[in-house]
Amino acid sequence: MKENYMVCNCKKVSYADIEDALHEHESFNSVLEAFEDVQKVTHCSTGCGGCHDKVLDIISELMMGPSAKA
Ligand code: FES
Repeated sequence: MKENYMVCNCKKVSYADIEDALHEHESFNSVLEAFEDVQKVTHCSTGCGGCHDKVLDIISELMMGPSAKA
């Protein structure tokens, strides 16, 4: 299931963890700002960094919908 998909293996952060972290905040000016916040909450992408693009993709998907990928 998508929600249980492990996005960051180093820090054991799942898709649902990112979604939860994102929903703690009402709005962001940019995906990068949101990323920094999600990172603070979940510590995703602070290990090997290999999940960085995946995390960014997921955040933009959650913020703008699946069709709005940059
Ligand atoms: S998989 Fe996320 S930091 Fe390594």
